[in-house]
Amino acid sequence: MSVQTGRLSASGVQTMFDRIAPVYDSMNHVMTAGLDRRWRRITAEAVVRSGHEVLDACCGTGDLAIACARVGGRVTGLDFSERMLERARTKAPELRWVRGDLLELPFEGGSFDAVTVGFGVRNVEDLERALAELRRVLRPGGRIAILEITRPRGALAPFYRLWFDGAVPLIGKLVPGGSAYTYLPASVRRFPGPGELAELMRAAGFGDVRYRLFAGGIVALHAGVAS
Ligand SMILES: C[S@@+](CC[C@H](N)C(=O)[O-])C[C@H]1O[C@@H](n2cnc3c(N)ncnc32)[C@H](O)[C@@H]1O
Repeated sequence: MSVQTGRLSASGVQTMFDRIAPVYDSMNHVMTAGLDRRWRRITAEAVVRSGHEVLDACCGTGDLAIACARVGGRVTGLDFSERMLERARTKAPELRWVRGDLLELPFEGGSFDAVTVGFGVRNVEDLERALAELRRVLRPGGRIAILEITRPRGALAPFYRLWFDGAVPLIGKLVPGGSAYTYLPASVRRFPGPGELAELMRAAGFGDVRYRLFAGGIVALHAGVAS
């Protein structure tokens, strides 16, 4: 397991995010030219309705959880990195923030009307188990949204490689804990493409699974309904 292969143990992932917590938000905005805010808003609007109990798993510094609260959700953010959670708590002390593992969610079955995961499922050791856990904590008919980086095909692909595989790891060398930005493109390379992720969601018990691509196919938003 290494940053170069894009595969890390759970404790490796946790340490990596603890280290990059201070620069995480700024790096996100730089890498996506600020588009990440819009993607999180669209993700929240896709599945959250006013009054919904919402779990934002792998919440990191909290931006997707906060987007879900803006749509009217009663939000719980969960992450296993304490340093990331500290930042989330500072931004939105009124939300519920829980330290925990996506692979063993500390919630009863059927506790939530909606679950969201932003740029999180790519990091887990066992994707099928993560999807099963997300399905378990949703009530039947509850909705899931997964926002994740993917690899574009066609005209944008060479530009993407130049930026994401070349420039991002270089920029990462300038910031503390920057090996995370070598891990990032490598983890996207080994992660299932959008069609395959949709299939895994169906196998985990989600119906009406659909996805849309943003920014020429750099990011995918998958949505589905717990059947
Ligand atoms: C790339 S950040 C995404 C943060 C946030 N969702 C966003 O939209 O920016 C991934 C987060 O997932 C968390 N994470 C990864 N694997 C996890 C797991 N098994 N359980 C809980 N959190 C996990 C990391 O600690 C990190 O904060």
